[in-house]
Parts: sequence; C-alpha cells; structure tokens
Amino acid sequence: MRVLFVTSEVAPLIKTGGLADVSAALPSALRRLGDDIKVLVPGYPQVLKALDTFKIETLFLKLEGFPESRLLSSLLPDGGPLWILDCPELYQREGGIYQDKTGADWPDNAKRFGLLSKVAAILGGADSPSDWKPEIVHCNDWQSGLTPAYLHFSPGGAPCVMTIHNLAFQGVFPPQTVAELALPEESFHPHGAEFYGNLSFLKAGLYYANHVTTVSPSYAEEIQTDALGFGLQGLLKNRNKSLTGILNGIDDNEWNPSTDKALVQNYDVNSLEGKIANKLELQKRMGLNVESEIPLLGLVSRFTFQKGLDLVLEVAPQLISFPAQLVLLGSGDVTMQNNAQALARRYPGQVATVVGFDEALSHLIEAGADLFLMPSRFEPCGLNQMYSQRYGTPPIVHSTGGLIDSVSDCNKASLAKNQASGFVFNKMTTHDLLICIQRALSVYHDRKTWTKVQLNGMNKDFGWQASAAKYHEIYQSCLAN
Ligand code: ADP
Ligand code: GLC
Repeated sequence: MRVLFVTSEVAPLIKTGGLADVSAALPSALRRLGDDIKVLVPGYPQVLKALDTFKIETLFLKLEGFPESRLLSSLLPDGGPLWILDCPELYQREGGIYQDKTGADWPDNAKRFGLLSKVAAILGGADSPSDWKPEIVHCNDWQSGLTPAYLHFSPGGAPCVMTIHNLAFQGVFPPQTVAELALPEESFHPHGAEFYGNLSFLKAGLYYANHVTTVSPSYAEEIQTDALGFGLQGLLKNRNKSLTGILNGIDDNEWNPSTDKALVQNYDVNSLEGKIANKLELQKRMGLNVESEIPLLGLVSRFTFQKGLDLVLEVAPQLISFPAQLVLLGSGDVTMQNNAQALARRYPGQVATVVGFDEALSHLIEAGADLFLMPSRFEPCGLNQMYSQRYGTPPIVHSTGGLIDSVSDCNKASLAKNQASGFVFNKMTTHDLLICIQRALSVYHDRKTWTKVQLNGMNKDFGWQASAAKYHEIYQSCLAN
C-alpha cells in the first residue's frame, strides 16, 4: 500500500519529542510489512543540513495564500523515502521549529503548517503533480490537521487517517485564518473546522479524516471524557466507531542496552551486572556522589505541566533524605527550569539538573538510573517508560493513558505472574507519589525481587510490529469503505 506519512518532526533529523521517534519507527515498521511509505516533513535548516543529497522533485509556485515552495526528495537514515517541503520564507530560520528563541510561538505558524497540510493534500489529491500517488494520507497532530479538510473539498483524493499524539496542542487560530489559508468557507462550521469561533487545525483533522487513531488504548477512552477531552470530547465520542487506540512501540535498534553506543558498558538480561558501570559513570558525569548502593532516580522530559515535574521538585527534599539521588534532564517552562536548577544547587552531590536537549545523556540516564520517574498528569502514550523498562530501570508512573497500558504495577499478583515491571500511583498528589517512591525503594532494597522486576521489564516486547500491523489494517479498512 502506498502511504504518505505527514509529520512536523522525524528523528534523527529533527526532534522535540516522541512524535519524531514515532515518525521514524512506524514508517520503518510498515515498510518491513511491505507498505510503500513516504514521509513528508518541512525543510527546516536542521533537516536540510542533515541530508547529504536531495533532488528537486516538484515546484509549487502559485499556491493561493502561500509563498513559493518546492518539494525535494531524499532518503531517511534507514533508507526510507523522504519528501522535504522546502519553503525558506516559512522554515529557514534560527530558533525552535514551533517557537522562537524566547519560547513564543512563531506568529506565522498557521501559514507554516497550513502549507504543510495543503501540500500533503495536493500530493494525496486527484491532480497530484507526482507520479507516486498515495492510496492513504496519514496525518499526525495539528500541524497536518488541515490536510483532511483540504482533501474533503477536492473530490477524488486519498482517504486520510489522523493520529492524535497529544490533544493538548490543537493549532487554534483566529477566524480570518480560514481565508488566509484558502480553506473553503463551508469548512468553518461547528460541524467542521470551527472551534468556538476560531479555526482549529486539529478539529478539522478529527472531523474530516476517515479514521482517527491515538497512541494508546487508554488514551483513546480518556479523550472522550470531559477531564481529558480538551473541549473535543463531544466530537470524539461521536466518532468513536472510527477511533482506535494503538500503543506506540519503540525502536529496538535505537533503544537497546546491548548495543547502545551512549553507554559505557553494554548489557542485556544475561549480563545485568553491566548496568552498574553506567550508574557510576552517570554519577561522575553529573557531579553526584559516586556510590553504587544509593538508589538513583532519573527523569528525562519536556518541562511542562503535562509531565508533573512540579510534583517531583516538591517531593525532592524528602526523597533524598531516604536516602536517594536524583538526576533531571529536560527543558521547557522557564520557571520549572529555574526551580530544577535551584534544587541541584541546594543539594550538591545528591541532585543534578541538566537543562537542554541531550540525546546521548538521555540514553545514559535510562541505563544508569535505578528507577525512572514519569509522573505525568496525562500521557497519550509516553516512550521513556518503555525505554526504561527495556534498560532494566523500572519506571514510577501515574496511572494515566499509555502509562497504564505499558507498565504493570509491582504487587503480589503481578510478581507471581512475572509481569511486575514498575510502580504505579493513582492520585496526582505529592503524597501518593512519595508513597509510591517509598514502595519502589523498599523493593529496590530486596535485591532478589528487584532483579525480577528489572528482568520482567527487559523481557517485554515493546517492538513496533504488532502496532504497525494494526495501522495497516486501518489503512485497508479506509480503502474498503
Ligand atoms: P513527549 O513526546 O510528550 O515529549 P514521549 O515520552 O513520547 O513524550 O517522548 C519524548 C522523547 O523525547 C523521548 O525520546 C525522550 O527521551 C526525548 N526527550 C525529551 N526531553 C529530552 C531531553 N531534554 N533530552 C533528550 N531527549 C529528550
Ligand atoms: C506526544 C505525547 C506522548 C507520545 C508521543 C508520541 O508527544 O505527549 O505521550 O508518546 O506524542 O506518540
């Protein structure tokens, strides 16, 4: 099956979060199943710099409402075909891909991702200028949310699948954006792309796509409720016959403790003792007291309200008195960054904070920490808790979304079934988090049970194959209807 996979980030070319990992690994897994997938991504400077060669495929000179752009073709590092949407006026700039250096959204984001959506619709449309014509267009998050709307109003195009990676980001812009992006006026309707008087990219995608998916079965249920529907629960409930939750997988090559180059010693289920060298290296590198016995808790995350770092900062003084050490890596909210750095200054040798995005360090933390902290308020899927289980680093997680679907709480019953692989708390309070950490630490000090929990996690299958097969089935069902 020919599938156009539209995304605003793809690892390792450009990454701000899990969407990039999924955009690399899922197309790759689908290719192994025999599908013919092309990934379409904007031509940010990081993308163009990372590629050795590309060729000019098509020019889009006069798209109503947009500056001139062109389509380049190249290959992803795994050999998969890649289309790059080159439009220097919209994508060639210093700063983040969604925000400028001060953290403010780019003021022309509607145009930037309107163009991505539009070009995807042209390529999936009846009059595509390319010889390669997709049978399915697979859109991801709000940045490609307008593609299903554009396609809906130009008959003869390919059916669309819309995947929600995070409902908290919807791409909502003022009503005049409809005309600026040359969207048909009929689409600006409560039964369409309008969201309380504004244009919502994501709502458009959810409304017009043939099928909607999200990245875990539990999150698929949660987004139909008032608590986690972010205002779109009504629409999602209406569409629930064509809404499917499919758990993300992880890239077994990228995230494999037996081959990972970021580690100082590789290990697997048969050589778990190799993990300790990574802990000592991590402590040394982070300026923590180098001690093999003290439990070390790690966190790698965007610093946002979603991820619950505020709770971790609150419980930290008690946590280190257990005793335990804490290493934090992340960036985002400036106040959270400052608070995390202040904590490290207050507890030298016991808490270390790195503000920034550091791929290699994130791997070393997964391997070197004893426990991984992921107390997200909500979590569509989450990848780090799966990476950490693979690395023999049981996660401590809040019972939400994909965390429910991928971590088995350690208790008598799950231990007896060899399923216990982490520690789950139910209420998003410092009290419940602390109790859960204490519970995890008491298991940590019972070495035999601890090793069992580590091995259960490492032996789990988090590969992409089963999930990729489910996406393939959904593509087929879209073609059949
Ligand atoms: P989200 O996409 O919501 O941020 P996920 O758990 O799905 O959460 O994916 C996050 C991805 O980004 C993981 O691969 C994680 O290791 C990575 N990541 C997040 N913050 C950092 C950071 N500061 N440095 C390196 N990698 C990071
Ligand atoms: C989003 C979600 C995260 C998910 C990722 C990839 O960023 O916050 O939970 O794992 O997308 O689907």
